[in-house]
This record gives sequence, structure tokens and C-alpha cells, in this order.
Amino acid sequence: MIISVRGLRKDFTVRAKAGRFRRERRVVSAVDGVDLEVERGELLGYIGPNGAGKSTTLKMLTGVLVPSAGRVRVCGLEPVARRTRLARRIGVVFGQRSQLWWDLPLADSFELLRHVYRVPAAAHAGRLARCRDLLGLDEFAGRPVRQLSLGQRMRGELTAALLHGPEVLFLDEPTIGLDLVSKQAARSFLAELHRAGDTTIVLTTHDLADIERLCERLVVIDHGRVVHDGSIEALHARYGSRRRVVVDLEAPLAGPPELPGARLESVAADGLRLTYALTGATAGEVVARLAGAGELRDLSVVEPDIEDVVGRLYAAPTGVP
Ligand SMILES: Nc1ncnc2c1ncn2[C@@H]1O[C@H](COP(=O)(O)OP(=O)(O)OP(=O)(O)O)[C@@H](O)[C@H]1O
Ligand SMILES: [Mg+2]
Repeated sequence: MIISVRGLRKDFTVRAKAGRFRRERRVVSAVDGVDLEVERGELLGYIGPNGAGKSTTLKMLTGVLVPSAGRVRVCGLEPVARRTRLARRIGVVFGQRSQLWWDLPLADSFELLRHVYRVPAAAHAGRLARCRDLLGLDEFAGRPVRQLSLGQRMRGELTAALLHGPEVLFLDEPTIGLDLVSKQAARSFLAELHRAGDTTIVLTTHDLADIERLCERLVVIDHGRVVHDGSIEALHARYGSRRRVVVDLEAPLAGPPELPGARLESVAADGLRLTYALTGATAGEVVARLAGAGELRDLSVVEPDIEDVVGRLYAAPTGVP
């Protein structure tokens, strides 16, 4: 396992106002017993509502924050004790912070990072060429970072995080605030990086399209605890969200048929559109049976909505539906 986490906790002591003069010390369990195993090459979505403990977890995995309890290993290293060594083996993009030199042209930051990490010139040039190409850096690489738009800067940050060839890439909301095109560029880039196979990626995001497009495995946390660890399909199965078949008919049927493995969800007022939720049957079986009952004009299969299921997951107070 390239990442191994057992019983990870982080408590913050906050001083809250209690009455006019008194201040009370209160303990917030930001991360409350997280277990996590990630294999090399996985692309993991680490998601959850605001304040769930995602950033706090990532900070502990990257050695920025000392855990209150638990055992963490990233690339076999204890992140806080071996922070410098770990830094050579991981890449980090935290949406709010920058690793770029603000007043220098973006391209100079890349060159400086090459020296910081002592990357051989050929390896550096190869990685940089790939990023320039996939992220379209050339049009703004000559400009000082402080003049870049958010989307341009994020593309620079992604590049900066990858130039030393890290084994694990930690991304905390890398697409926050980006427009549609920049988001898609970042997504395609990450998908490509994942396909290439040797970088493990841990991604925190509130963007459901990021999740659908990129994450085979989702770890959902809420109030510092893992409430789901598995595929998106498993999440849909757990919350009973189903694929649907929508069929338009040439003429209404006398009575819409009950079909095995499908639940009739709705019939349009004119009787020409039937919607079935698939509860076991395949879309093909449902369509074949309906075609036997009447003439079909059109049909479509609707995938379950990730937004729906994530919304329900966040709404459930303990994460249990
Ligand atoms: N330095 C700190 N001092 C006190 N409390 C903190 C500190 N950092 C985080 N917290 C608290 O810990 C909890 C988890 O915060 P965290 O930033 O990890 O959430 P998050 O899942 O990243 O949320 P978001 O989606 O909003 O980024 C929150 O209640 C937050 O207020
Ligand atoms: Mg956060």
C-alpha cells in the first residue's frame, strides 16, 4: 500500500465565546478515526461536505499537520518525521496555497523547482513538455504568476507539483473556481496521468463532474469519519438509485405492463411515455418486452444521478441511509 492510515485523528482546541467575557475551550474532532488503504496507481476521490475533515486529512498525509493519534504511512514514510524526504516523492496542489514564485514568470518557477528537487535535466524537460502540451502552458508561461488568471495559475500549479515525478499526487480542490473549459482541461490531464498508470492520485473536490469523470473509488467522509468507501456504483446500489429506461410509444397501451426486474415509475398524461426504473432486468430486456406490447417510437436509458446520491449521503446525519 502506498498510503496506509489507521485510526487517524486530529483534534483542534478552539476558544469559543461563552457569554460576554468568558471564553470556553472546546475540542473539535476534525478527523475522528479514519482508516484508509490506497494502492499504487489508484485515483481516489476523497469527498464530503464542508468541514468534513478532508483538508485536515490531506495536511496530515503530507506532513504539514501533526496527527493527534493514529498511524500514517505515505510511500512507507511517516509524513511529519520524514517531511523533507517525503516531499521528493509526493506532489501537492492545495487550491488556496501556491508553490509558485509570485513575481517571476511561470517558466522560471519551473526552472527553480528543477533545482530545488535536483531533477536531472532530461527528465525535467520530458515532464515539462508533456504538461505544456496537455495543459496549454505556452500562451502564458512567460508571464509573472501574479498576473495569471486563476485557471492559468492552477495549470501552473499542477505542472509544478509533477515536475519531480512524484509517486503520489495530493490535490485539494484543484478545480475550484475554474471555468468549464479549464475544468475539463484539468480533468483530462488527470485522467491521462492516471491512465499512464504510475502516479497515485488523491483528489478532494466538490465538483460532481470531477468525481464522475475521474474517480473509480470514492471515500466519503462526514464529521471526520468515513461513511463510504467504494465505487460510485456501490454508492448507487446502497442508496437504491437506479438506471431508468424511458420509452416513447406510437400509441398508448391499454394498460402499461408490469415487467419483471423493472418498476413502472411514471406514465405521461397522454400515455405515450413510460418510465421504468431497472431493479434487476437489463435495459434490453425491458425494451424487448415493451416492443412486444406495442410499437416504440423512441427510447433512452438514463444513468443514475451522482448529485442525487451524494446529496442523500450528505443529508443522512450518520451517513447511514
Ligand atoms: N487550524 C484549525 N483550528 C481549529 N479548527 C480547525 C482548524 N482547521 C480546521 N478546523 C476545523 O476542522 C473541521 C474540518 O476542517 P477541514 O478544513 O478539514 O474541512 P474540509 O472537509 O476540508 O471542508 P471544505 O470542504 O470546506 O474545505 C472544521 O470544523 C474546521 O472548522
Ligand atoms: Mg477543505
